[in-house]
Amino acid sequence: MATKKKDGQKSGAAKPGADRFSSEGRETAATKVAPAKGKLGVMVVGLGAVATTMISGVEAVRRGLAKPIGSLTQMGTIRLGKRTDDNSPLIKDFVPLARLNDLVFTGWDIFEDNAYESASHAQVLKSEMLTKLKPYLEKIKPMPAVFDSYYVKRLHGTHVKKGKNKRDLAEQVMADIRAFKKTVDRVVMIWCGSTEIFMRPKAVHQSIEAFEKGLEKSDIGIAPSQIYAYAALMEGVPFVNGAPNLTVDIPALVELSKKNAAPICGKDFKTGQTLMKTVLAPAFKARMLGVSGWFSTNILGNRDGEVLDDPMSFKTKEESKLGSLEYIFQPEMYPDLYKDLYHKIRINYYPPRGDEKEAWDNIDIFGWLGYPMQLKVNFLCRDSILAAPVALDLVLFMDLAKRTPELKSIGIQEWLSFYLKSPQTAKGLYPEHDLFIQSMKLKNTLRHIMGADLITHLGLEYYD
Ligand SMILES: NC(=O)c1ccc[n+]([C@@H]2O[C@H](COP(=O)([O-])OP(=O)(O)OC[C@H]3O[C@@H](n4cnc5c(N)ncnc54)[C@H](O)[C@@H]3O)[C@@H](O)[C@H]2O)c1
Repeated sequence: MATKKKDGQKSGAAKPGADRFSSEGRETAATKVAPAKGKLGVMVVGLGAVATTMISGVEAVRRGLAKPIGSLTQMGTIRLGKRTDDNSPLIKDFVPLARLNDLVFTGWDIFEDNAYESASHAQVLKSEMLTKLKPYLEKIKPMPAVFDSYYVKRLHGTHVKKGKNKRDLAEQVMADIRAFKKTVDRVVMIWCGSTEIFMRPKAVHQSIEAFEKGLEKSDIGIAPSQIYAYAALMEGVPFVNGAPNLTVDIPALVELSKKNAAPICGKDFKTGQTLMKTVLAPAFKARMLGVSGWFSTNILGNRDGEVLDDPMSFKTKEESKLGSLEYIFQPEMYPDLYKDLYHKIRINYYPPRGDEKEAWDNIDIFGWLGYPMQLKVNFLCRDSILAAPVALDLVLFMDLAKRTPELKSIGIQEWLSFYLKSPQTAKGLYPEHDLFIQSMKLKNTLRHIMGADLITHLGLEYYD
């Protein structure tokens, strides 16, 4: 029976009622999301600042020592139905997400430090907190990594796998995944490793066949991050990329993702400066204000900053950070406003600051009749404090995607662009960078997979 459309909703399948959704999953006309039963294994590549801040944070929340601030999956709500319905359940009560108590962490690193030692070295969380978590964190010991300093010039790891070729290394990672799978019910892999050198897609990346031949010949075009990603996708495991590395942004791994129902998404956590850019730029554009220049600079002193001090790794980060403005402003559509935009990004390694990055933006804008104005943004942020909840949410949503029949075999999960500096899209589609469009897309995807009505914010019926 057709229901009256509410608040610009497109009719979906059933009329939602919050009491009908639970973490046990729900049958809808379109699909049945499988329940989040049992343990979710999280395999983290790179147990550095972001990874250990996420893992420590999850454990602190589980013990009631702190709140999961910054995590949409843990604190966010989702409106269902009309504005007057007063029906906004927590996202985690609406969709069947894995519970924090069910997360089990393991990982790889090029150094032998356990998660406690690594978190202490990263100096993100206070020692009082880390001391409380020590017995738990000490048990998380990294497995030997797939690493080659050709791809990350500033690091020289000692805790690394040896193999006769890159195929052999991929098989060792697959063996690690299979062993871990025996101890948990489902697995997600997330790259929290360093930024690799800038790479463009080549012939070896164009098909699964070419990629596998490349593994056999240890082709230089295949970076360590791609070996992990290949292993994950071969094992049907969703793969998240927190760094700007090329990794799965190639036809071969998109194809493998679809073939093995192992979801992938874009790359590079959207946390500090780019988060602000994708908030401010849509505001200027919405009001048709012009922008002639956007100068962004950063100082940071953590290991990530040290790696990015190498021009080859910086180039990878720069490309990822540059993209957002170009796509948001659409200069070809609005030449009077944005065609002469000068966009410059700098990252400076400055050890005294550690993880407490400082970012400055100077934005030269112009308004009515071309009169110039300026906006200055000074963000004193904490890199890993911003990144940890993003990493956690991506893990939980990718596990959800894997359990959702309609999503698991489509490859790229564009609805997760919300979290990423470089969204990945289907061929021929431009990426959507505007944070608010991304947020709507994410929530509408959740409504859709749960059979709830989509919300378009039309709302004319309130004035009938
Ligand atoms: N913190 C943020 O706000 C943020 C935002 C976007 C992206 N990132 C990206 O996330 C990644 C992690 O950042 P971080 O601050 O934790 O850096 P980090 O240097 O503290 O941690 C990276 C870890 O990865 C390890 N590693 C490097 N190559 C590896 C490999 N091949 N296999 C296994 N381990 C490997 C390193 O030894 C290190 O322990 C970086 O690429 C960074 O650019 C961070």
